Amino acid sequence: MLKHCFSKQVDTSFLLLTMHFRSTLFFVIHILSSCLLVSGLTHPIKIQGNHFIDAITNETFFIKGVDYQPGGSSAVSEESDPLSNPAICARDIALFQELGINTVRVYSVNPELDHNACMTMLALADIYLILDVNSPLPNQHLNRYEPWTTYNDQYLQHVFKVIEQFSYYNNTLGFFAGNEVINDGLSAKRSPAYVRSVINDMKRYIKKHSPRIIPVGYSAADDLRYRIPLSYYLGCHDSEKPDSNVDFYGVNSYQWCGEQTFSSSGYDQLVAAYRQYSKPVFFSEFGCNNVLPRTFSEVDALYSEEMIPVFSGGLVYEFTQEPNNYGLVEVGSGGEVHLLNDFQVLKEKYGQINSTVLHNLASGNLPNSNLMKRTTSCENIYENLHTEINVPDTFAFDLIEKGVKVRQGKYIDLPSDDLTSKFKVYNTGGDLHEGIKEIKPKKTTDTSTKPFHENSKPSGAKPNRSVRAFKRKPVLECCFLAYVLLEFTYQVACLIYS
Ligand SMILES: *[C@@H]1O[C@H](CO)[C@@H](O)[C@H](O)[C@H]1NC(C)=O
Ligand SMILES: *[C@@H]1O[C@H](CO)[C@@H](O)[C@H](O)[C@H]1NC(C)=O
Ligand SMILES: *[C@@H]1O[C@H](CO)[C@@H](O)[C@H](O)[C@H]1NC(C)=O
Ligand SMILES: *[C@@H]1O[C@H](CO)[C@@H](O)[C@H](O)[C@H]1NC(C)=O
Repeated sequence: MLKHCFSKQVDTSFLLLTMHFRSTLFFVIHILSSCLLVSGLTHPIKIQGNHFIDAITNETFFIKGVDYQPGGSSAVSEESDPLSNPAICARDIALFQELGINTVRVYSVNPELDHNACMTMLALADIYLILDVNSPLPNQHLNRYEPWTTYNDQYLQHVFKVIEQFSYYNNTLGFFAGNEVINDGLSAKRSPAYVRSVINDMKRYIKKHSPRIIPVGYSAADDLRYRIPLSYYLGCHDSEKPDSNVDFYGVNSYQWCGEQTFSSSGYDQLVAAYRQYSKPVFFSEFGCNNVLPRTFSEVDALYSEEMIPVFSGGLVYEFTQEPNNYGLVEVGSGGEVHLLNDFQVLKEKYGQINSTVLHNLASGNLPNSNLMKRTTSCENIYENLHTEINVPDTFAFDLIEKGVKVRQGKYIDLPSDDLTSKFKVYNTGGDLHEGIKEIKPKKTTDTSTKPFHENSKPSGAKPNRSVRAFKRKPVLECCFLAYVLLEFTYQVACLIYS
């Protein structure tokens, strides 16, 4: 470009025009190739009876997912969290698609960071997020033994910021108010009423500030003494605080180890225990690793006719390999990914699930229809729990009135290059993996008539972008802008160098 400018003095005006035209053309082409901007169209999920449904198509939605917190629970900081790095998201979401999942659960985020790119990528891949509002950082979680020391203004500010930001994404499926807060005798004495209070605060905040009603739930520890009474306590209706009960209940379950059956695993008793529960219940963590290699045979049971009237699917713990050895993939120090055996096995299992069949079963003549399930009124006493604690709520009231200030999430336009993974992926044998390297938009543009099939083959033809998921942004506008910019730079350069 500078050469063009220098030549200005000697060249004829004709030549100058040619140069000018050439560079403009070059830039138009360049911009065209990188400016195929996209924006996602994800259907919100809502709750109807004890099922999740797609708010647009009314299809019953079954969670088929993984828990995702690369680096473990401490992997949240001022600089980063699992949804803050677009390059890592592109890498992992391409693998999520290959795995065939429709939901991830993330345990901790920092609401001061920008999550737009990662959330857009998830939306394009038609993957929903269930998000815990707490983090291990100070002032961002309840102390289970002394909740009164941590249930305060700063804590609620954090919780509300997470809500404020993520409720603007249509693919936020729900929030967890807590994960395993009640997990032993002492916490069962001290924490239940506080958890209910947090749920109340969250739901009131959402009602007042969020663009749509996003359900709030709780994720329970794998301990039979508490998880069932707690589900009834957290789910019951309190006429004085009508927003203080959960909308759904997550169960962390590791009871199916190795080869089991519906009854030998005790899944039959779980189903019996929640048969009358009026809200969606699902496994917020599953995948026992006491017997290796994992075969994920519980997937067959979880999405069977016996369980889907009561359970809305589940999330396998967990995507990345961490010291506790539950990973599907191992991430190397350079960001390269080694697929573990569990990845292939789970991919096969999830691939066998036919969402149309599940939907038809759920909406058809199932014996335990929603109508028979009622939300019960709160009782005075719940087995193994102490619930008679008065939790102060005045500061929560003020915060909810005022609202919190944080960047509200929005989907952004991403150049298609950003959807391509830049990291190497290796098979269990060590050879390069020939899988999906690019996030492939899944939905069709028509939102009302074409439900997607979760089990569509992950590999296959390249999507036809002109008809797939995208509302293409005005490319011309983009080019024009780029052109003006270029023109300006060009002229300035000419001024300086001539
Ligand atoms: C979210 O979903 C609603 C209802 O389908 C839709 O009207 C809205 O445009 C969606 N928002 C985004 C950002 O996709
Ligand atoms: C979904 O259900 C709502 C209300 O139940 C109804 O108005 C709407 O037409 C349904 N949509 C579809 C696509 O069936
Ligand atoms: C899912 O089941 C439906 C209904 O039985 C069937 O029409 C469809 O082909 C199945 N899809 C796949 C991918 O097997
Ligand atoms: C993509 O869609 C357009 C418009 O419907 C169609 O004309 C074209 O043939 C399609 N291309 C492929 C490769 O399917």
